[in-house]
Amino acid sequence: MLPISTEPMQIRTSKIIDSKGDGPWYEALFSDGRNNVGLICDTPGSVNDDHYHPDFNEFWIILKGSLEFEIGDFPTIHAHKGDVVLAPAGERHLIRTIGNESSVRLHVSKIGSDHASRKDRGNQTAPYPTQKEPPNLLHTTLDSVIEQLGEPQWVTSIIKDSLNTANLVYSAPGTPHDAHWHPEFDEWWTILKGELTWDLGEKRPVYQVTEGDIMYLPRGLKHHILTQGSETSFRLAITDSEGLHVFQEGDEDAPPPRE
Ligand SMILES: [Fe+2]
Ligand SMILES: [Fe+2]
Repeated sequence: MLPISTEPMQIRTSKIIDSKGDGPWYEALFSDGRNNVGLICDTPGSVNDDHYHPDFNEFWIILKGSLEFEIGDFPTIHAHKGDVVLAPAGERHLIRTIGNESSVRLHVSKIGSDHASRKDRGNQTAPYPTQKEPPNLLHTTLDSVIEQLGEPQWVTSIIKDSLNTANLVYSAPGTPHDAHWHPEFDEWWTILKGELTWDLGEKRPVYQVTEGDIMYLPRGLKHHILTQGSETSFRLAITDSEGLHVFQEGDEDAPPPRE
């Protein structure tokens, strides 16, 4: 298992992708105590070893290129940069890179689970689930959530299960976000679009974070996030499933944020 970081981390996936080239390659990034998180780069036409996990929902954030996902017996999903794809527990998943360029996906996978359980795709296609709104859709695109929820600012849960909550935040430049801290859970974000800053207080640098970056924050640090520039931003914020005890300045009985 990768060590769980107790200091903030900014991971520029675009730099990793540029330096490692067209692939195939794998880069382990970090563990948040629940999940292993890493980058998978595949070349056009390549396919993973299809499998399923009985014990957790796996999801991916597409960072580059185009992919097809066969999940269970559902119709094939076509996913592109910025999309989130979910394989529910027990559903076989086969992942194929399509088009002319390599694909890169961020995987979020339960620690300690195995990837060895196999089953065949059924003879018949199952109807796509009728659920249209998040959370836990097989396939979430930014365009489809904008269609449902409109212009910023909003937050919606894309994934909500016993392991993780992944909240998609759509924010306009300059929109205030209340500085807060949570002593009991770490939080990390993948920036899907736009430019933002993470202000962690006077004693730490302000992080300039942009599309493709991952920002990881250990529990207890106060954070103030602001969308910069002229573009709206999308970020996927991933925490544990509970998200308990979030404090703001002035809250009675708030434990102080860590230094
Ligand atoms: Fe998997
Ligand atoms: Fe937070």
